[in-house]
Amino acid sequence: MKALWAAAAAAAGAAAYGLSRPGVRETLREDLETVKRRDPAARNDFVSLVSYPGMHAIWAHRGLHRLWQHDAGKVPARLMSQLVRTLTGVEIHPGARIGRRFFIDHASGVVIGETSEVGDDVMLYHQVTLGGTSMAQTKRHPTIGNHVLVGAGAKILGPVVVGDNSAVGANAVVVKDVPSDSSAVGIPATVRSKKKDGAASAKAGAESSTTHPDFVLEDPALWI
Ligand SMILES: CC(C)(COP(=O)(O)OP(=O)(O)OC[C@H]1O[C@@H](n2cnc3c(N)ncnc32)[C@H](O)[C@@H]1OP(=O)(O)O)[C@@H](O)C(=O)NCCC(=O)NCCS
Repeated sequence: MKALWAAAAAAAGAAAYGLSRPGVRETLREDLETVKRRDPAARNDFVSLVSYPGMHAIWAHRGLHRLWQHDAGKVPARLMSQLVRTLTGVEIHPGARIGRRFFIDHASGVVIGETSEVGDDVMLYHQVTLGGTSMAQTKRHPTIGNHVLVGAGAKILGPVVVGDNSAVGANAVVVKDVPSDSSAVGIPATVRSKKKDGAASAKAGAESSTTHPDFVLEDPALWI
């Protein structure tokens, strides 16, 4: 019980310290805006603040990733990431590198391995795994580009690359690289160019990331 209180006090202290820094407050604002853009049901910032476990997992990950950069911080970061997994249902290894405006919708059962790299404006659904296929301590997890959508239940395995503006279909198992502006569906995933005009979509993505940092894929779950 004492340990739980100590952990809660440490979390409250870290949150208070974080909120005292303008950069952290800006990122928080950006995350809340991201929730609004991704989920039309999110109308109230306070409700979003308390009810999106995917966002809580990302906040915790940012702190734990910083801790992971120090040798002495690796063990506590790993232990705390397990606590975060228990609380949110999202397991992000503290070593994973994750970009801005990352969003996990219906967060539950998500696993992101140690050497994963995730770009900006990426969205995952529940039950997604960015996993490894090797026991060697090398780069063994996926690299996900910018503006990528990964559908519910998809597994992306090994040090594969999913290019910018691509989509991985629900329940796909990706074991090979996916080029930019394409969709990968099925088991094992096969690549198809998106029915939408890829070039137009990439251009819109580039413009939007500078002027309006949003993601241009049509999210079929937007109305759920
Ligand atoms: C893959 C996805 C992003 C659509 O991408 P797209 O490029 O617009 O693809 P299209 O809808 O044009 O479909 C292309 C082909 O892939 C097939 N396909 C689409 N999604 C698929 C999936 N998840 N598994 C298998 N095949 C799929 C389509 O039937 C179509 O086949 P066809 O060319 O033989 O007709 C979308 O289908 C998807 O899976 N999104 C994830 C949504 C999700 O997880 N929602 C969770 C809500 S809680």
